[in-house]
Amino acid sequence: MANKDTDLVEKILNLREKRNAVILVHNYQPAEVQDIADFVGDSLGLSQNAAKTDAGVIVFCGVHFMAETAAILCPDKTVLLPDINAGCPMADMITAERLKKKKQEFPNATVVCYVNSSAEVKAESDICCTSANAVDAVESLDAQEILFVPDQYLGHYVSTKTDKKMILWPGYCPAHVIIQPEHIEQLRQEHPQARVVVHPECRPEVIALADEVLSTGGMCRYARRSEVREMIVGTEVGILHRLKKENPGKKFLPVFDKAICPNMKLITLEKVLWSLEDMTPEVEVPEEIRLEAKAAVDRMLEIGRG
Ligand code: 13P
Ligand code: SF4
Repeated sequence: MANKDTDLVEKILNLREKRNAVILVHNYQPAEVQDIADFVGDSLGLSQNAAKTDAGVIVFCGVHFMAETAAILCPDKTVLLPDINAGCPMADMITAERLKKKKQEFPNATVVCYVNSSAEVKAESDICCTSANAVDAVESLDAQEILFVPDQYLGHYVSTKTDKKMILWPGYCPAHVIIQPEHIEQLRQEHPQARVVVHPECRPEVIALADEVLSTGGMCRYARRSEVREMIVGTEVGILHRLKKENPGKKFLPVFDKAICPNMKLITLEKVLWSLEDMTPEVEVPEEIRLEAKAAVDRMLEIGRG
């Protein structure tokens, strides 16, 4: 670790203590940010941790919808997002207004909303899900018709696992959509022993070539299995840091090294420190929206990892 980073880390850890803060970090965050975490995980694990922490302050190293989910679950805590511009382009592909119109078109549909969405969109939804429990969330419902928002690819993946009728919102993740089947075909030839694991935000043609389709947390658990010696990883490349750190001696290759989420990389150690110093930028949700959104998030948390 560079001297500058050592100084920063020391200051962050001191302030974390002073502020009674917890640092929650998503698996796609820069390596040095992952390394100061109290907990590193996928969207579901981060929500579960936010819901149960005793800390008064949550420093959320991820993107806006994740910090907002923490604010939905923990109205009495201060939720900080070290760069307020760290958004999610997929979450921005739907608004509550447009969702309301779509619901009028499909009045019998139950709305399942990927957690990658704003609090307002969650408030218009019946249940949330993450990539770790999307199939279970859909299967938990009595409804036969599902309006799934906003990720068409996660929705398509779920549709291959259920008999329910799925109406898909046409959103997508720019970091996953650029992963192509050719990338996997080429790597499979070069590494015939490797297991191919992809995220359900990938295109169906990519998913069709994978051995496993898993959330980022699911990928980390899968990598620990003894028979896995080499893994080709189809998701945002930030996860490779954790995979390598937790599994020395095993080999991890990205399906495509340009699968990068620029928003996730906006969080830096400096910004984490400034955030703890100034106690900004704070993410808050108006109470009326929060209560409606919380009902959808709570229904998801009851399912857990499925
Ligand atoms: P998970 O970490 O929940 O699999 O989600 C991936 C993602 O795109 C978060 O933005
Ligand atoms: Fe959004 Fe994709 Fe970035 Fe996740 S990786 S935050 S879905 S743009």
